[in-house]
Amino acid sequence: MEKNYKRTLVTCALPYANGPVHIGHLAGVYVPADIYVRYLRMRGEDVLYVCGSDEHGVPITIKARQQGCTPQDIVDKYHKIIKDSFTGLGINFDIYGRTSSEVHSKNASEFFRKLYDEGKFITKESEQYYDPEAKTFLADRYIVGTCPKCGAEGAYGDQCEKCGSTLSPEELINPKSKLSGAEPIKKKTSHWYLPLDQYESWLSEWILEGHKEWRSNVYGQCKSWIDGGLQPRAVSRDLDWGVPVPVEGAEGKVLYVWFDAPIGYISNTQELLPQSWERWWKSEDTKLVHFIGKDNIVFHCIVFPSMLKAYGDGYILPDNVPSNEFLNLEGDKISTSRNWAVWAHEYLEQFPGKEDVMRYVLTANAPETKDNDFSWKDFQTRNNSELVAIFGNFVNRAIVLTHKYFDGKVPARGELLDVDRETLAEIPVLRASLEKNIEGYHFREALKDAMSIARVGNKYISDTEPWKVAKTDMARTATILNVCIQICADLAIAFEPFTPFAAEKLRKMLGVCICAGIDHRKGEQETVNTYKEGEGAAIHTVSAAAPMEASSCPGFGKCVCLNWNMLGNTDILSEGHEIGAAELLFAKIEDEAIQAQLDRLDAIRAEREAAAKAEAARQVAPQKAECSFEDFEKMDIRTATVLEAERVPKTDKLLKLSIDTGIDKRTIVSGIAEYYAPEDIVGKQICILANLAPRKIRGIESKGMILMARQGDGKMRFITPQEVLNNGAEIG
Ligand code: 2FM
Ligand code: ZN
Repeated sequence: MEKNYKRTLVTCALPYANGPVHIGHLAGVYVPADIYVRYLRMRGEDVLYVCGSDEHGVPITIKARQQGCTPQDIVDKYHKIIKDSFTGLGINFDIYGRTSSEVHSKNASEFFRKLYDEGKFITKESEQYYDPEAKTFLADRYIVGTCPKCGAEGAYGDQCEKCGSTLSPEELINPKSKLSGAEPIKKKTSHWYLPLDQYESWLSEWILEGHKEWRSNVYGQCKSWIDGGLQPRAVSRDLDWGVPVPVEGAEGKVLYVWFDAPIGYISNTQELLPQSWERWWKSEDTKLVHFIGKDNIVFHCIVFPSMLKAYGDGYILPDNVPSNEFLNLEGDKISTSRNWAVWAHEYLEQFPGKEDVMRYVLTANAPETKDNDFSWKDFQTRNNSELVAIFGNFVNRAIVLTHKYFDGKVPARGELLDVDRETLAEIPVLRASLEKNIEGYHFREALKDAMSIARVGNKYISDTEPWKVAKTDMARTATILNVCIQICADLAIAFEPFTPFAAEKLRKMLGVCICAGIDHRKGEQETVNTYKEGEGAAIHTVSAAAPMEASSCPGFGKCVCLNWNMLGNTDILSEGHEIGAAELLFAKIEDEAIQAQLDRLDAIRAEREAAAKAEAARQVAPQKAECSFEDFEKMDIRTATVLEAERVPKTDKLLKLSIDTGIDKRTIVSGIAEYYAPEDIVGKQICILANLAPRKIRGIESKGMILMARQGDGKMRFITPQEVLNNGAEIG
């Protein structure tokens, strides 16, 4: 049964501060969360929206080593880039904190210490890889070697990025430390573990019995973890970057990043609301929702809840954990290390004023139930054929015509015809569906509902043709445009969660503002009045006491204030209300802008392919089984010169060569047509195996074999003496 909550705490997975965020992150976590939060705020609900950078973990230390700086330098750099990207896209968290903060360090330490003191951990000694030269334990990521599955070099001890296989360091062929290149050895070390097995039946009841409504990908992953039997999980690591384990004798050990990161949600809340944070984390009236990507499911559904359960003290558990699948880019897996991504900060620079377009496309294409693909062509089509041609076009026609015929004032509505009534009646139906979809975390469907409102408006104005009616019947024209303006106001409400920049522009055009729930960004002071005289379009924030009444808005009576409850009302803007000048909501995206992106990706692909080829070329085949000196001596290897060369008819690979061996002139048929053109090799001195038994190839007698060197990528070249020798010189 749906619980009646008083407030909602929305968290977004804390992105690792070891690189910028890309469209995969945005589509998977941040855009859907933002839609949800904006929607709840428009409903006047009390929402706290928390995120921040995840600044610990091995990849950050690796990056710092690669770049010759400190881990702190790395996280400082990316924290800023990521934070600015979110702001640029209209994703405005109440707090965007960081796990390298003092508040967090103290908090995570205290959390560990309480569990430690209460005996909630077990300790285990195990053998871990150790770098004898760098004198440090090696996390799996620090060990590289050949992938046992696909043979790629440079596979990590936890994963091969080439073939995607999950690995363990033991499986790597020829493992080497990334730090010193030394071969790692095994050494004993001891760590603290959270015995997840002890929480298994509790988790099973809470999730498998109690949350059957969770998305099937989330529920399914939880079920397979729980059914597979949970194992104790290490909560500490041998590393010098992170929150130190607050126990005596734990020098050189830090909290495992996945232990400290989720506590970061709590720390960030504390940082923002030092007095009242517990209201958000320890009250059954709070609905906690974690937005995450699918690789985070186990940590948010199994590990973190078990940590909270172990801690006790009234911490609440998530009501839902909406998690998306992955987004691909132009048919290929997004990969930070391969630079196969559209980076948020670069997008914002390259497409100024098009923040909403990316939000829109990522929602329309969201990988909610399966992995999905982002393509630049689709991006362009969705902008040009949907945002511009439907939403923007309708609004523009409605506003321009209202200015043209009625001096920019909402005209009077006369008697309604069937077409008007039927059109207006469609909006509440779409609103109901939109609400159901957002509340059920089906944002793609919700966006379709919002877009359907624009389609309804577009069809209505096309069918009723007010520009023609105006020639004969101004009263009817007034009615039509009145209906159109109401639909514009509906759009300003319905699109606020999805395309907030366009919604704001539209509000300005309509001369209205919004009540946007409670703004917590200023900390404890929870009621913030951003309304200023003369700036009617400012966002109002309303008090917690009377969240939804327009009359509780500080700007009430001084401006027209939209809120979610008005969506579908037939008279949102009354006769005589003055609207502002028409502005284009969206602009067309031209082919050149798209081509520039495709060219960039093509260049990356070409670079990657060239690197892969070079890597393959470097591969050296293993040495063959030993042969005796006598065996070797049997081979008669000599210098020779190509006299003539021609293709063997009806074959792709074979050349027929006439050779001067110094002993005789003979024919050798060789499979080298893909490496050499006949005209290019006449006159070349080569090496041959002269005494190979003659063979018939395609009816031609071949006597001997041309010696070739073959690289790892299969490319073959002649072996040519460094200086021209007599033909028939013996090699050996
Ligand atoms: O997968 C990630 O990007 C992690 N940094 C998410 C952490 S979420 C939370 F637990 F902090
Ligand atoms: Zn592999």
